[in-house]
Amino acid sequence: MTGAFLNPPLSPHASDYHSPVLVDRVLEFLSLAPDPGERRIMDGTLGGGGHTEAILRRIPGSVVLGVDRDPAAIREARSRLASFESEGRLQVVEDRFDSVARQVGVAGPVLSGALLDLGVSSRQIDEDGRGFTFRDGAPLDMRMAGEGGSGAEPTAADLLAELDEDELARLFREKGEERGSRALARAVVAARSEAPLRTSDDLVAVIASVYRRPPLAKEKARIFQALRIEVNDEIESLEEALPALRDALLPGGVLVVIAYHSLEDRPVKRTLREWSRSCICPPELPVCRCRGEALGELLTRSVVRPTPQEVAENPRSRSARLRAWRKAP
Ligand SMILES: C[S@@+](CC[C@H](N)C(=O)[O-])C[C@H]1O[C@@H](n2cnc3c(N)ncnc32)[C@H](O)[C@@H]1O
Repeated sequence: MTGAFLNPPLSPHASDYHSPVLVDRVLEFLSLAPDPGERRIMDGTLGGGGHTEAILRRIPGSVVLGVDRDPAAIREARSRLASFESEGRLQVVEDRFDSVARQVGVAGPVLSGALLDLGVSSRQIDEDGRGFTFRDGAPLDMRMAGEGGSGAEPTAADLLAELDEDELARLFREKGEERGSRALARAVVAARSEAPLRTSDDLVAVIASVYRRPPLAKEKARIFQALRIEVNDEIESLEEALPALRDALLPGGVLVVIAYHSLEDRPVKRTLREWSRSCICPPELPVCRCRGEALGELLTRSVVRPTPQEVAENPRSRSARLRAWRKAP
């Protein structure tokens, strides 16, 4: 038997665009969402539509508001899920999920559930022209909205050209947890005075000059990821979206978030824990002066990870960490 016959089976919701992760666990939590006749669920990270398809097929009474800031993802999901859209069970919006979450909650709570599957899709990584990769010759772009954003969004190349040394050092330290952040920032400033950094090779050459050896894949990944997070305002978008989604959830509504690295997971963990505590006063206060009751409960005592079998089938799922929370009834 050849290797091709040994390829592991893919999830029924996988496509050549993206394989959704932890699908059964997502459905398990979203199935707890209240059913006031129609379960309105916001998928803030529609991507190729894998999770949304699973929700629409397997959660009775579900209708989905699918959101993505990437016009290519929107096109893909609409074509895949056209039948649900024409049945009126799917509405698709191209925007940032924090902005949509605020708009959805304006008239009061309406959502039974919400899902954020953070980061980038396999297709975004695999298309060199989008610049999310450090493969040779990829342009330093990394905008999730591509050309279709507000128009004001800088590319990774713009940031490398425009940020001063302190700002670059902060970016590499805070968003890339890079120990040599100052040396790297200094090297970027020196390199760009010779020629602008335009492609992945240009940046990899600067990293190599600081490390005095070719950087390992994981070292490059960390630094490229830091730029991607900054280009797309990812942490700010997440921090704004969480309270907006909480406000948009009906009593008993469920929020599920899948993060792929600690910078994303940390605010999710901290926020969901804080909402689940009945008192958030500083310990030195003799009397409780805060809200005095929990806003809801954590459905995941500890973080949920993919099984070894899922990781074998879909290696890109290996860093996924899921947390779920239910708003007080
Ligand atoms: C991991 S993929 C989601 C894959 C999807 N769950 C599926 O099953 O195909 C993340 C998607 O979220 C989108 N995205 C990331 N941050 C976003 C934000 N702040 N607002 C809207 N979309 C965002 C990306 O463009 C990408 O398509």
